[in-house]
Amino acid sequence: MTFSPEAITQAALQSFAGADNLRLKVIMQSLVKHLHAFAQETNLTEAEWMAGIQFLTATGHKCDEVRQEFILLSDTLGLSMLLVAMHDGAQQGATEATVLGPFHTPDAPAMKSGADMTNGAPGEPLYVTGRVVSADGKPVARAMVDVWQADAEGLYDVQRAELHSARRARGLIEADKDGQFSFWTVLPEAYPVPTDGPVGQMLVNTGRHAWRPAHIHFMVKAEGYQPLITHIFREGDKYLDSDVVFGVRPSLVGKFQSHAAGTAADGRAMQKQYWTLDYSFALQAK
Ligand code: BEZ
Ligand code: FE
Repeated sequence: MTFSPEAITQAALQSFAGADNLRLKVIMQSLVKHLHAFAQETNLTEAEWMAGIQFLTATGHKCDEVRQEFILLSDTLGLSMLLVAMHDGAQQGATEATVLGPFHTPDAPAMKSGADMTNGAPGEPLYVTGRVVSADGKPVARAMVDVWQADAEGLYDVQRAELHSARRARGLIEADKDGQFSFWTVLPEAYPVPTDGPVGQMLVNTGRHAWRPAHIHFMVKAEGYQPLITHIFREGDKYLDSDVVFGVRPSLVGKFQSHAAGTAADGRAMQKQYWTLDYSFALQAK
């Protein structure tokens, strides 16, 4: 047996040759090939790899039922968004997808279209109107629109222990027979991803910021269509070009318009400045 670097790589690749699960074999052999190439390309030292192992160990230790530091690592390395983009397959006319993120909950309060989901969240009022259509522009009746977002302080309800699991700036709305829906919420603000763990340290050590541009998350589902997981970003946000998780797609930047106090489109009397957003979501047929 020789111990040249090439021979070691070949031996490691060959060790998977007998795997019955062909997909697993392909993935493991490709992982070995690229890991070895990475070590060679960077001339990685044993001490550096030990630091890498300690980083990955700390990443695992930071995980619990609510915190998933490995997903945050995947997000901040661009891998999560790469997978979304690779498998999006959005046909012409369908709305593009982006990352799910860690703040979706399965228990968003169901509310009627037109309802106010603010429930005490700080921020300027925002009236969102939207329409769910097919990729060829036909209305999709009774789509379910799941919405969640950060408030004016850049926090999601689930990040506020004082709320004791109460939900705010979050809701589940059924679109009408023409695919139309609306709701009141607050204007979202930019926020940093959690930085109190090894991924935050990695961002500091590499001179990266931790910010996501302001956005509202949407998960839109309807019978006969692929579920759509996406966000609408706030036009003009200073982080649109440097989102820490690479989730921005130009088609997902929405026009958030400010209005002076007065009567809103749904007849609500507004005593102070408020905002509106209108966006159509196009679903891809199954
Ligand atoms: C989010 O938008 O909620 C999010 C996405 C990826 C990492 C952290 C947060
Ligand atoms: Fe978010």
